Amino acid sequence: MHNSPVQRRKIGSSDLEVGVVGVGTWQWGGGAIWASPKGPDQTDIPSAYDVALDHGLDFLDTAEIYGAAESVIGGLRSGDPRPAVIASKYFPSPKRWRLQALDRAIDRSLERLGVDCIDLYQVHWPFSMIPHRRLLRRLAAAVHDGRIRYVGVSNFTAVQTRRAYAILADAGVPLVSNQVSYSLLRRAPEVNGVLDACRELEMTLIGYSPLAQGLLAGKFRLGVQGVRTGVMSALLGRPTPDRASVVNQSLLRIGAEIGASQAQVAIAWMCRDPAVFPIVGVRNAAHAKSNVDAAAIQLDSDQLHELDAVSVPFRRARRATRRLVG
Ligand SMILES: NC(=O)c1ccc[n+]([C@@H]2O[C@H](COP(=O)([O-])OP(=O)(O)OC[C@H]3O[C@@H](n4cnc5c(N)ncnc54)[C@H](OP(=O)(O)O)[C@@H]3O)[C@@H](O)[C@H]2O)c1
Repeated sequence: MHNSPVQRRKIGSSDLEVGVVGVGTWQWGGGAIWASPKGPDQTDIPSAYDVALDHGLDFLDTAEIYGAAESVIGGLRSGDPRPAVIASKYFPSPKRWRLQALDRAIDRSLERLGVDCIDLYQVHWPFSMIPHRRLLRRLAAAVHDGRIRYVGVSNFTAVQTRRAYAILADAGVPLVSNQVSYSLLRRAPEVNGVLDACRELEMTLIGYSPLAQGLLAGKFRLGVQGVRTGVMSALLGRPTPDRASVVNQSLLRIGAEIGASQAQVAIAWMCRDPAVFPIVGVRNAAHAKSNVDAAAIQLDSDQLHELDAVSVPFRRARRATRRLVG
């Protein structure tokens, strides 16, 4: 489609500047959710990584709970001179009720990733046995001691985001992002205050599952049970292929008009807003290349208007926090 470098986007008030579509690596960890019915296809991950970095998609999102993903990234990064921004996440499990657990988690992620400093370290979920004030102040200390460059949160409501921002600001550290589920099939952040809070606080809304885990890429069809159906329902609140079909039809129609796939149009829709940064889960070189090309698509106002109109049923406030997702 094109060979020019992808657009760059800044993450909140940080100095992290990255290619406009991020690389999600939940899939890189293996595990039941992402297992392919045809068998594991992990061998494609190095090619996905190479294609993404060669084309400037240089933001890698991972988490300590994504199976082997952090170690996979560590292995790929080892000796690779190409710059990349690595974002990982702390999982506030109910078993973790001491601050030492947070310090240990950071150190273990550093070790697995093979780096001295994690560019963006996110609190994966708002639920925590360690009160937010103490947790966030300890993260600020980790910024000051150089183990973390920037702090982000994930799945936080607007109120939780504002509180977290204020706690960190007191400690002299900016909160730069909130990572939440956001797509044409889940537009809650537009109406539950999360996107407004991000804009106001100069933070980036990092949108996960922008393809609704494949539903917006035509991977699940009416009456066909995909391997991820259960997780998808939990994540998206039952946007069955049936309910999603009007959106998918528009994506296909617009895609045909501009020579793009439906997944690419869905990603381009996410990129329309400079406060939003989509991270797309990729497993192979074809996904990565397709996402590079999606990053270059500018939808016109008619196309944006159509997508806005067909996805109105999904533009309603829902709880920001759900169980069972990565
Ligand atoms: N913070 C959180 O709580 C949280 C929760 C969920 C996800 N995440 C992060 O967000 C990332 C992305 O979300 P996600 O993986 O849940 O869902 P997603 O990005 O909406 O969907 C990923 C799936 O879409 C398909 N795909 C990707 N690029 C494609 C392309 N160009 N054309 C066609 N199909 C394409 C692939 O399906 P196939 O594999 O079937 O080919 C891929 O596995 C994750 O990897 C993770 O880093 C964070």
